Amino acid sequence: MSLILNGDEVEAGGSVLDAVLAAGIELPHLCKDDNLPAIGACRTCLVEADGRIVAACSFPASMAKRVDTETKTARRIRRGVLELTLAMQAERGDEGGPLAGETASTASREGAAVDRFAVRTGRAVDATSPFFSFHEAACILCGRCVVACQDLQHISAIGLAGRGRDTRVTPGAADTFRESICTSCGSCVAACPTSALRPRGGAE
Ligand code: SF4
Ligand code: FES
Repeated sequence: MSLILNGDEVEAGGSVLDAVLAAGIELPHLCKDDNLPAIGACRTCLVEADGRIVAACSFPASMAKRVDTETKTARRIRRGVLELTLAMQAERGDEGGPLAGETASTASREGAAVDRFAVRTGRAVDATSPFFSFHEAACILCGRCVVACQDLQHISAIGLAGRGRDTRVTPGAADTFRESICTSCGSCVAACPTSALRPRGGAE
């Protein structure tokens, strides 16, 4: 199976995102962990496929004939989504902070303005686990930690609760991570693209 990707014919299986990354093209994909199934939550991976804007991580390559990652429309919409995503972070831009990782390189490459929208999230901190801490101010609600806990560890010690502006990462049904069923395996910390989940002993 092949498709035309940014003007070149490439072999493609899996998702459009798989084809894009295999071709060495940089594309934001903040909620897609390399080792986990697509969640389709962040919409930062939008591309144009046969004239339609689609999420590359969850769109099968077999359904596309022509994909362009850099059209004016795709870039503009992606930048807007990224700016809204960055607005979830009350804590931004400090050295060693959340914008130091995947979020930072993505925002800079896409030309996303960090301060275009007002900040939405709270600033709760859960530092009750001896192994990691959670910083709501850096969380973009991408869900990678939740999927890592479910799909890699089959534990579901971490979840997303609430709706809309009230959505929050929670330690399952417990009040704190120390009281939760978390086994401190570290999968959620490794999956988090913003360092909202951090190992203890690092920058907290
Ligand atoms: S804690 Fe990290 S991985 Fe979990 S939802 Fe927030 S940003 Fe995503
Ligand atoms: S990476 Fe595609 S929707 Fe998040």
